[in-house]
Amino acid sequence: MTIIGEQPDHSGSRDIASGFETARLWLRRYRLEDASWYAPMSMQNRDHLARYESGNAAMGITTEADAAAVIQGFIESWNARSAFFLGAFRKESGVFVAQIYIGVVNWDLPELELGYFAAVAHTGQGFVTEAAQGALHFCFRELGAHRVRLECDDTNIASYRVAERCGMIREGHLRENHRHADGTLTGTLLYGLLSHEFDS
Ligand SMILES: CC(C)(COP(=O)(O)OP(=O)(O)OC[C@H]1O[C@@H](n2cnc3c(N)ncnc32)[C@H](O)[C@@H]1OP(=O)(O)O)[C@@H](O)C(=O)NCCC(=O)NCCS
Repeated sequence: MTIIGEQPDHSGSRDIASGFETARLWLRRYRLEDASWYAPMSMQNRDHLARYESGNAAMGITTEADAAAVIQGFIESWNARSAFFLGAFRKESGVFVAQIYIGVVNWDLPELELGYFAAVAHTGQGFVTEAAQGALHFCFRELGAHRVRLECDDTNIASYRVAERCGMIREGHLRENHRHADGTLTGTLLYGLLSHEFDS
Protein backbone atom coordinates (compact mmCIF):
# COMPACT_ATOMS: atom_id res chain seq x y z
CA MET A 1 0.00 0.00 0.00
CA THR A 2 1.28 3.45 -0.87
CA ILE A 3 0.84 6.41 1.46
CA ILE A 4 0.00 9.60 -0.44
CA GLY A 5 2.34 12.36 0.62
CA GLU A 6 0.99 15.53 -0.93
CA GLN A 7 -0.90 18.10 1.14
CA PRO A 8 1.21 17.63 4.29
CA ASP A 9 -0.43 18.57 7.57
CA HIS A 10 1.61 21.03 9.61
CA SER A 11 -0.55 21.03 12.73
CA GLY A 12 1.61 18.69 14.78
CA SER A 13 5.17 17.63 15.31
CA ARG A 14 5.17 15.37 12.26
CA ASP A 15 3.32 15.61 8.96
CA ILE A 16 0.48 13.12 8.51
CA ALA A 17 -0.02 11.80 4.97
CA SER A 18 -3.19 13.09 3.33
CA GLY A 19 -4.25 9.64 2.18
CA PHE A 20 -3.22 6.33 0.70
CA GLU A 21 -4.01 3.92 -2.11
CA THR A 22 -5.12 0.30 -2.20
CA ALA A 23 -5.41 -2.03 -5.18
CA ARG A 24 -8.62 -0.45 -6.54
CA LEU A 25 -9.05 2.72 -4.51
CA TRP A 26 -7.63 6.10 -3.68
CA LEU A 27 -8.41 7.25 -0.15
CA ARG A 28 -7.83 10.87 0.74
CA ARG A 29 -8.89 13.52 3.22
CA TYR A 30 -11.74 15.77 2.13
CA ARG A 31 -11.40 19.21 0.51
CA LEU A 32 -13.98 21.99 0.56
CA GLU A 33 -14.65 21.54 -3.17
CA ASP A 34 -16.00 18.04 -2.39
CA ALA A 35 -19.20 19.71 -1.12
CA SER A 36 -20.70 19.79 -4.64
CA TRP A 37 -20.94 15.98 -4.88
CA TYR A 38 -21.08 15.25 -1.13
CA ALA A 39 -24.53 16.87 -0.88
CA PRO A 40 -26.29 14.70 -3.50
CA MET A 41 -24.36 11.63 -2.28
CA SER A 42 -25.66 12.22 1.25
CA MET A 43 -29.26 12.53 0.08
CA GLN A 44 -28.99 9.42 -2.13
CA ASN A 45 -27.71 7.42 0.87
CA ARG A 46 -30.12 8.68 3.51
CA ASP A 47 -32.31 5.55 3.62
CA HIS A 48 -29.22 3.33 3.46
CA LEU A 49 -27.66 5.08 6.49
CA ALA A 50 -30.86 5.56 8.50
CA ARG A 51 -30.79 2.38 10.59
CA TYR A 52 -27.15 2.03 11.61
CA GLU A 53 -25.72 5.50 10.98
CA SER A 54 -28.59 7.69 12.12
CA GLY A 55 -26.15 10.05 13.82
CA ASN A 56 -23.90 10.39 10.78
CA ALA A 57 -23.38 14.01 9.72
CA ALA A 58 -24.43 13.09 6.17
CA MET A 59 -27.97 12.47 7.46
CA GLY A 60 -28.52 16.18 8.05
CA ILE A 61 -27.32 17.39 4.64
CA THR A 62 -29.88 18.78 2.19
CA THR A 63 -27.88 21.54 0.47
CA GLU A 64 -24.37 22.12 -0.80
CA ALA A 65 -23.93 24.68 2.00
CA ASP A 66 -24.77 21.96 4.55
CA ALA A 67 -22.20 19.68 2.92
CA ALA A 68 -19.58 22.44 2.94
CA ALA A 69 -20.14 22.94 6.68
CA VAL A 70 -19.77 19.21 7.35
CA ILE A 71 -16.61 19.01 5.24
CA GLN A 72 -15.20 22.09 6.97
CA GLY A 73 -15.69 20.16 10.22
CA PHE A 74 -13.85 17.15 8.73
CA ILE A 75 -10.96 19.43 7.72
CA GLU A 76 -10.78 21.05 11.14
CA SER A 77 -10.87 17.74 13.01
CA TRP A 78 -8.10 16.39 10.73
CA ASN A 79 -5.98 19.50 11.37
CA ALA A 80 -6.62 19.17 15.11
CA ARG A 81 -5.80 15.44 14.87
CA SER A 82 -9.00 14.55 16.69
CA ALA A 83 -10.58 12.54 13.84
CA PHE A 84 -9.63 11.58 10.30
CA PHE A 85 -12.37 11.32 7.67
CA LEU A 86 -11.35 9.90 4.31
CA GLY A 87 -13.27 9.48 1.08
CA ALA A 88 -12.60 6.30 -0.92
CA PHE A 89 -12.69 6.68 -4.71
CA ARG A 90 -12.40 4.14 -7.54
CA LYS A 91 -9.03 4.59 -9.25
CA GLU A 92 -10.49 3.78 -12.65
CA SER A 93 -13.35 6.30 -12.53
CA GLY A 94 -12.78 8.63 -9.58
CA VAL A 95 -16.25 7.73 -8.30
CA PHE A 96 -16.84 7.93 -4.53
CA VAL A 97 -17.59 4.47 -3.11
CA ALA A 98 -17.15 4.72 0.66
CA GLN A 99 -16.18 6.82 3.66
CA ILE A 100 -13.72 5.86 6.35
CA TYR A 101 -13.75 7.42 9.81
CA ILE A 102 -10.75 7.14 12.11
CA GLY A 103 -11.51 8.58 15.54
CA VAL A 104 -8.95 9.26 18.24
CA VAL A 105 -9.83 7.50 21.50
CA ASN A 106 -6.59 8.67 23.07
CA TRP A 107 -3.13 9.54 21.82
CA ASP A 108 -1.43 8.19 24.96
CA LEU A 109 -1.81 4.51 24.09
CA PRO A 110 -2.52 5.43 21.21
CA GLU A 111 -5.98 3.95 20.64
CA LEU A 112 -7.98 4.77 17.52
CA GLU A 113 -11.50 3.87 16.41
CA LEU A 114 -12.56 2.76 12.94
CA GLY A 115 -15.90 3.42 11.25
CA TYR A 116 -17.19 3.25 7.67
CA PHE A 117 -20.07 3.37 5.29
CA ALA A 118 -20.43 2.41 1.65
CA ALA A 119 -22.31 4.41 -0.97
CA VAL A 120 -25.33 2.19 -1.48
CA ALA A 121 -24.71 1.79 -5.23
CA HIS A 122 -21.25 0.36 -4.50
CA THR A 123 -21.97 -2.23 -1.83
CA GLY A 124 -21.21 -5.91 -2.25
CA GLN A 125 -17.97 -5.47 -4.18
CA GLY A 126 -15.47 -5.58 -1.33
CA PHE A 127 -14.62 -1.87 -1.48
CA VAL A 128 -15.26 -1.23 2.21
CA THR A 129 -13.20 -4.24 3.28
CA GLU A 130 -10.37 -3.04 1.02
CA ALA A 131 -10.68 0.53 2.33
CA ALA A 132 -10.86 -0.66 5.96
CA GLN A 133 -7.78 -2.86 5.52
CA GLY A 134 -5.95 0.16 4.12
CA ALA A 135 -7.25 2.29 6.98
CA LEU A 136 -5.90 -0.20 9.54
CA HIS A 137 -2.51 0.03 7.84
CA PHE A 138 -2.80 3.83 8.03
CA CYS A 139 -3.75 3.62 11.74
CA PHE A 140 -0.86 1.38 12.72
CA ARG A 141 1.87 2.57 10.33
CA GLU A 142 1.09 6.23 9.74
CA LEU A 143 -0.70 7.23 12.95
CA GLY A 144 1.24 4.90 15.26
CA ALA A 145 -1.76 3.17 16.86
CA HIS A 146 -1.19 0.46 19.44
CA ARG A 147 -4.83 -0.56 19.26
CA VAL A 148 -7.78 0.06 16.93
CA ARG A 149 -11.32 -0.58 18.08
CA LEU A 150 -14.65 -0.77 16.29
CA GLU A 151 -18.23 -0.89 17.54
CA CYS A 152 -21.21 -2.05 15.55
CA ASP A 153 -24.82 -3.00 16.08
CA ASP A 154 -25.19 -6.74 16.68
CA THR A 155 -27.76 -6.98 13.86
CA ASN A 156 -25.49 -5.20 11.35
CA ILE A 157 -24.15 -8.37 9.77
CA ALA A 158 -22.61 -6.62 6.75
CA SER A 159 -20.63 -4.35 9.08
CA TYR A 160 -19.22 -6.99 11.40
CA ARG A 161 -18.35 -9.16 8.40
CA VAL A 162 -16.13 -6.29 7.18
CA ALA A 163 -14.44 -6.10 10.60
CA GLU A 164 -13.89 -9.85 10.71
CA ARG A 165 -12.57 -9.98 7.13
CA CYS A 166 -10.02 -7.37 8.26
CA GLY A 167 -8.87 -9.67 11.06
CA MET A 168 -10.42 -7.69 13.91
CA ILE A 169 -11.10 -9.72 17.05
CA ARG A 170 -14.55 -9.80 18.66
CA GLU A 171 -13.84 -8.64 22.22
CA GLY A 172 -17.27 -8.17 23.66
CA HIS A 173 -21.01 -8.02 23.24
CA LEU A 174 -23.19 -5.49 25.02
CA ARG A 175 -26.74 -6.86 24.95
CA GLU A 176 -29.80 -4.71 24.17
CA ASN A 177 -28.03 -1.43 24.95
CA HIS A 178 -29.58 0.56 22.11
CA ARG A 179 -33.20 1.44 21.31
CA HIS A 180 -33.82 2.29 17.65
CA ALA A 181 -36.31 4.91 16.46
CA ASP A 182 -38.81 2.13 15.71
CA GLY A 183 -38.53 0.87 19.30
CA THR A 184 -36.51 -2.28 18.61
CA LEU A 185 -33.70 -3.09 21.01
CA THR A 186 -30.32 -4.24 19.73
CA GLY A 187 -26.88 -4.78 21.21
CA THR A 188 -23.37 -3.65 20.38
CA LEU A 189 -20.46 -5.80 19.24
CA LEU A 190 -17.00 -4.65 20.26
CA TYR A 191 -14.02 -5.42 18.05
CA GLY A 192 -10.33 -4.67 18.51
CA LEU A 193 -6.99 -5.22 16.83
CA LEU A 194 -3.55 -4.75 18.35
CA SER A 195 -0.49 -3.55 16.53
CA HIS A 196 1.37 -6.87 16.85
CA GLU A 197 -1.70 -8.78 15.63
CA PHE A 198 -1.83 -6.55 12.55
CA ASP A 199 1.89 -7.20 11.95
CA SER A 200 1.36 -10.96 11.99
C1 LIG B 1 -21.59 -1.97 6.55
C2 LIG B 1 -21.32 -1.73 5.08
C3 LIG B 1 -20.24 -0.68 4.96
C4 LIG B 1 -20.83 -3.04 4.46
O1 LIG B 1 -20.77 -2.87 3.04
P1 LIG B 1 -20.43 -4.12 2.10
O2 LIG B 1 -20.67 -3.68 0.71
O3 LIG B 1 -21.11 -5.36 2.59
O4 LIG B 1 -18.85 -4.32 2.35
P2 LIG B 1 -17.73 -4.55 1.26
O5 LIG B 1 -17.65 -3.37 0.35
O6 LIG B 1 -16.51 -4.92 1.99
O7 LIG B 1 -18.29 -5.75 0.40
C5 LIG B 1 -18.31 -7.03 0.97
C6 LIG B 1 -19.20 -7.94 0.17
O8 LIG B 1 -18.81 -7.89 -1.21
C7 LIG B 1 -18.49 -9.22 -1.65
N1 LIG B 1 -17.41 -9.05 -2.63
C8 LIG B 1 -17.62 -9.00 -3.97
N2 LIG B 1 -16.47 -8.78 -4.59
C9 LIG B 1 -15.49 -8.71 -3.67
C10 LIG B 1 -14.09 -8.51 -3.70
N3 LIG B 1 -13.46 -8.33 -4.86
N4 LIG B 1 -13.41 -8.48 -2.55
C11 LIG B 1 -14.04 -8.66 -1.37
N5 LIG B 1 -15.38 -8.85 -1.26
C12 LIG B 1 -16.11 -8.88 -2.41
C13 LIG B 1 -18.12 -9.96 -0.38
O9 LIG B 1 -18.33 -11.35 -0.54
C14 LIG B 1 -19.08 -9.38 0.63
O10 LIG B 1 -20.36 -9.93 0.54
P3 LIG B 1 -20.87 -10.92 1.72
O11 LIG B 1 -20.73 -10.21 3.03
O12 LIG B 1 -22.27 -11.18 1.30
O13 LIG B 1 -19.97 -12.11 1.64
C15 LIG B 1 -22.60 -1.26 4.33
O14 LIG B 1 -23.61 -2.23 4.49
C16 LIG B 1 -23.11 0.09 4.82
O15 LIG B 1 -22.65 1.13 4.36
N6 LIG B 1 -24.10 0.06 5.73
C17 LIG B 1 -24.71 1.29 6.25
C18 LIG B 1 -23.76 2.02 7.16
C19 LIG B 1 -23.21 1.13 8.24
O16 LIG B 1 -23.88 0.24 8.73
N7 LIG B 1 -21.95 1.38 8.63
C20 LIG B 1 -21.29 0.62 9.67
C21 LIG B 1 -21.68 1.11 11.00
S1 LIG B 1 -20.79 0.20 12.29
